[in-house]
Amino acid sequence: MVNGVFVSQSVNADSSKLVPQHVAIIMDGNGRWAQQRGKTRVVGHKNGVESVRAVVSTARKQGVKALTLFAFSSENWRRPEQEVGVLMDLFMLVLTREVKKLHKNNIRFQVIGDTSKFSASLQDKISAAETLTQSNDAMVLSVAANYGGRWDITNAAQNIAREVQEGTLAIDDITESCFDEHTSLVGLPELDLLIRTGGDFRISNFLLWQAAYAEFYFTDTLWPDFQEQAFIEALATFSDRERRFGQTGDQVKENR
Ligand code: IPE
Ligand code: IPE
Ligand code: MG
Repeated sequence: MVNGVFVSQSVNADSSKLVPQHVAIIMDGNGRWAQQRGKTRVVGHKNGVESVRAVVSTARKQGVKALTLFAFSSENWRRPEQEVGVLMDLFMLVLTREVKKLHKNNIRFQVIGDTSKFSASLQDKISAAETLTQSNDAMVLSVAANYGGRWDITNAAQNIAREVQEGTLAIDDITESCFDEHTSLVGLPELDLLIRTGGDFRISNFLLWQAAYAEFYFTDTLWPDFQEQAFIEALATFSDRERRFGQTGDQVKENR
């Protein structure tokens, strides 16, 4: 057993399919979706919001316990200023519109990433949404914004170093689980499934630490086209994977 990963799957009440407890998605392909239709890239971002809604509600229905969505990477600041501006406005708008619904559905919301770079009003909106939903326990929705996997690891290292310096943590106590507790997805189940839409085969500095034993699912479908059915297909693929965690296939079958 590796870090409790064998217990990080549950059986969906509706079928014999294994449902991943924690799913993360690199929501890619908005710009191309719009360009294929002769529209500006931002039209793709706006249409991508509908996919977010569909995926959140499907995850909740299927019994996924944690859903982590990559909305804006630490590298996305390099895009044209106008596109970054639209993405920020959209984030603000969606937060304003959707938080009540998340709360009604007993979903806890949090943002992971360096939010200090966002406007004060966006930071306030984020805090208010996190506070409102903090006691909800049906599912945790984490939105990665100004997030980078290397930032997450560096941030954890800094916080650990600070505790050592203050004398509250001994060097020998810096174990894998201690390190994990200092990363931004602390307390959530192990990442089971990492999906990337949009046809590229890379992790783009997403959950580097957390993806250690995740199953990967890549699809050509562009994010605005990734709706309930596409998500269910990805979940079904996960159910058919054999996760060995270093063991042999025979050992895994014996332990079943
Ligand atoms: C993903 O879609 C959304 C963000 C990165 C914010 P893209 O905007 O990267 O779309 P493509 O990859 O250019 O098509
Ligand atoms: C990854 O998509 C980030 C998000 C989906 C938010 P990008 O479109 O930024 O990734 P790269 O730069 O093509 O790898
Ligand atoms: Mg992209």
